[in-house]
Amino acid sequence: SVYSFVAILAAYLIGSLSFAVIVSRAMGLADPRTFGSGNPGATNVLRSGSKKAAVLTLLLDAAKGWLPVVAVASLGAPYGLGTGTVALVGLAAFLGHLYPVFFGFQGGKGVATAAGVLLALQPWLGAATLLTWILIAGFFRYSSLASIVAAVFAPLFYLLGDGRVWTAEPATSLAISAMTLLLLWRHRENIRRLVQGTESRIGSKGR
Ligand code: G3P
Repeated sequence: SVYSFVAILAAYLIGSLSFAVIVSRAMGLADPRTFGSGNPGATNVLRSGSKKAAVLTLLLDAAKGWLPVVAVASLGAPYGLGTGTVALVGLAAFLGHLYPVFFGFQGGKGVATAAGVLLALQPWLGAATLLTWILIAGFFRYSSLASIVAAVFAPLFYLLGDGRVWTAEPATSLAISAMTLLLLWRHRENIRRLVQGTESRIGSKGR
């Protein structure tokens, strides 16, 4: 319907707000696309030395994935918006982060935004995925490795998590799998660096 189209388009536009760039600019910090990994994301903003800017980026990039999903899930029914649109809205916000229309389609890797989408789709799924990220990051001190492992586990958690393997929503399964595949693709340089042993650890400068 036209309502689905408007909701998906709005989510894409919200996702296109690259908060790593916006927050850095607002706080007078260097553009995260010019140092470290060059990635407009919370991990790279942390390499600027400002924890406050990194946390703000993380929260706002997560919120832009969370908000459209929660909005459509809670307000969409009278407009005929069901679980299919809810899932596509989450995917659209994620795609906006990766390919932002306001920033020449040069976006980030989607970790914080995907976390926000998962928390909104299924709180337990978001929590399990977040816990996976925290465990791997705490143990190995690589943000990228934690993101990669959490992304691989997210669809498995969704399918197996609460025994819903036979009742999983096709659109939700598709959205989560698509986010995982795109997230892994966006981490291809990180994967190469992890294999070569040249990836930078959390809190250290460098790539
Ligand atoms: O937030 C993305 C993270 O997984 C990797 O970021 O800057 O180390 O490539 P970065």
